[in-house]
Amino acid sequence: MKILVTGGAGFIGSAVVRQAVAKGHHVVNLDALTYAANLENVASVADSPLYAFEHADIRDRQALTRIFSTHAPDAVMHLAAESHVDRSIDGPGDFIDTNITGTFNLLEAARAYWQSQGRPDGFRFHHISTDEVFGSLGPTGQFNESTPYDPRSPYSASKAASDHLVRAWHETYGLPVVLTNCSNNYGPFHFPEKLIPVVILNALHGRPIPIYGKGENVRDWLYVEDHATALLLALEKGQPGRSYAIGGENERRNIDLVRTICTLLDEMRPDGAPHDRLITYVTDRPGHDARYAIDPTRMREELGWSPSVTVEEGLRLTVRWYLDNESWWRPLLDRQGVGQRLGTSS
Ligand SMILES: NC(=O)c1ccc[n+]([C@@H]2O[C@H](COP(=O)([O-])OP(=O)(O)OC[C@H]3O[C@@H](n4cnc5c(N)ncnc54)[C@H](O)[C@@H]3O)[C@@H](O)[C@H]2O)c1
Repeated sequence: MKILVTGGAGFIGSAVVRQAVAKGHHVVNLDALTYAANLENVASVADSPLYAFEHADIRDRQALTRIFSTHAPDAVMHLAAESHVDRSIDGPGDFIDTNITGTFNLLEAARAYWQSQGRPDGFRFHHISTDEVFGSLGPTGQFNESTPYDPRSPYSASKAASDHLVRAWHETYGLPVVLTNCSNNYGPFHFPEKLIPVVILNALHGRPIPIYGKGENVRDWLYVEDHATALLLALEKGQPGRSYAIGGENERRNIDLVRTICTLLDEMRPDGAPHDRLITYVTDRPGHDARYAIDPTRMREELGWSPSVTVEEGLRLTVRWYLDNESWWRPLLDRQGVGQRLGTSS
């Protein structure tokens, strides 16, 4: 299969690109190379005859039309997005432009291409979304595919809008779409502005480890390679028009997650131990959702997917990876906004 992956130089997109090439798929990686991108993430496949790169922006409809006609993909996996909630609080405009208008452009370019090919049933437009579109849970319950949308941040609202567009393009034009909504990912190549890499890198540098509020917010953590496997399964076997909720069934309070990372670092870098002495409570994020949790029954029963690692196993792999890959993360610390507290304005 030839897959057009958008956002393939980012964290999750690059895991999808690496796995898709390893499975023998042809991949065209379309990425605007924003601050969050890094072509090092796909360096392991860059020389493969199965891989091509297109430096393009999903806000540029003409570029999209050219890319569809040049590469003639069998499927699209759409991951390109502005993805950081804190940045969406400070500057929501980019999130509206890329996540909503960019998705609209991509849908229109995909629809025109699909129609020009005689509307093949086997074509897929796979839209990758987040569980954050469902809002915030209390102490019990889980999100599933029928949970009503209730986004509460500019990021999640822009992703919810894009989900609605994708469903509308299926209902109105018959475009064969699949949607997935996933919980928080972590793992290698995670950009150092997100919680887990921030904790690891601050701890390594002996700097304060910031915990928003009381650290009681709960997230359902999924190792990125398990997400990429789930995405390729949903692409290959998911039913058109259907959505799939993906989660690791690994709920942890932020503070517990951070303490686990500190314990791993105590073991792997004992010179800085105990690392949890660096934990510092800071002002909470405005509108910080209390809890996310996913019921992945449909993924498990329909598509036969389950995560391969627990959060403790995945965190061990992740901490080891950051310790072994300083040459990957060091240059990223100089990028705009990294290491600063963002998203406090309300
Ligand atoms: N990170 C998570 O925990 C998580 C969980 C569920 C769903 N998602 C979704 O998965 C997708 C990927 O997330 P991620 O964490 O890998 O994001 P990321 O920020 O690491 O990567 C996003 C990529 O998209 C590219 N991009 C941004 N704007 C673009 C534009 N206008 N045109 C072309 N490319 C553009 C960037 O250059 C970057 O390479 C997003 O759609 C996100 O909403 C993320």
